[in-house]
Formats: sequence, structure tokens, C-alpha cells
Amino acid sequence: MTKLEWTEAHRIGVPAIDEDHQRILRTVDAFIESSMERKSTSHPVEHLLELMRCAYYHFRLEERLMQQTGFPDIARHAVKHDELFESLLGYFRGYLKFGTCDAVEVGDFLTHWFAEHLLDADQAYKAHFHAHGIR
Ligand SMILES: [Fe+2]
Ligand SMILES: [Fe+2]
Repeated sequence: MTKLEWTEAHRIGVPAIDEDHQRILRTVDAFIESSMERKSTSHPVEHLLELMRCAYYHFRLEERLMQQTGFPDIARHAVKHDELFESLLGYFRGYLKFGTCDAVEVGDFLTHWFAEHLLDADQAYKAHFHAHGIR
């Protein structure tokens, strides 16, 4: 599995968003690490919960800024956020029910989802936010 790291290519230029993205990628990485290491000091579900917390506030922040600035693609973007959140809830429910999950599958899904979303969907609002003085 490729390690997900924040790079300059991810930069939006809005500090609150860049910090959220860095925290989200670190949390996905921590989830994967804790799933892989037998002697891990943390349980993967802790990182899954942290990811849900970060993603919840981060998605609300982006959608609020999109609304404030009249970003035309807000509906499609918000659907992507909702879909990811539903997946996170599904994984969490699985943990509650079975006490475990297919960490490789979940880690792979999260890595691909965030890699694509941060470099594609989120980059699409960058110029729009800057043009509206959001920095
Ligand atoms: Fe984002
Ligand atoms: Fe987004």
C-alpha cells in the first residue's frame, strides 16, 4: 500500500484547510500503521473515530465556504463528502459488530479516496476561494 503523504501538490493556500488535510492524511496513515503492527500501542478504531471527527468538521468547513462564495459545484462536492462519511460509518458499524475489519481493504479505500479527492475535487475550488478572498 502506498503511503499517503501531504505534499505541495495538495496545498490549497487556505491554512485551516491545509491543516485539516494534513491531519486527515496523518490519521489515515496512523489507521493503517496500527492495523498492520501486531504490537501497535493504539487500536485502529481510535484512528477511525478520529478520522470521522476530522472529516466531519472539515467537510462542514469546506461546504460552508462554498456556500458563502457561491461555488457552483457545491452539490456534487457535498455528495462526495456524504458518501465518504457513509463509508466511514459503515466501517465503524462493522467494528462494533465484529470487533475487527479488513484493514487492508479499508486502508486501501481511504488511501485512494483521499488521494483522489484532495488532488482533484478539492483543488477544483482553490482558484474560486482565492478569487473570493478566502486564504
Ligand atoms: Fe478537503
Ligand atoms: Fe472536499
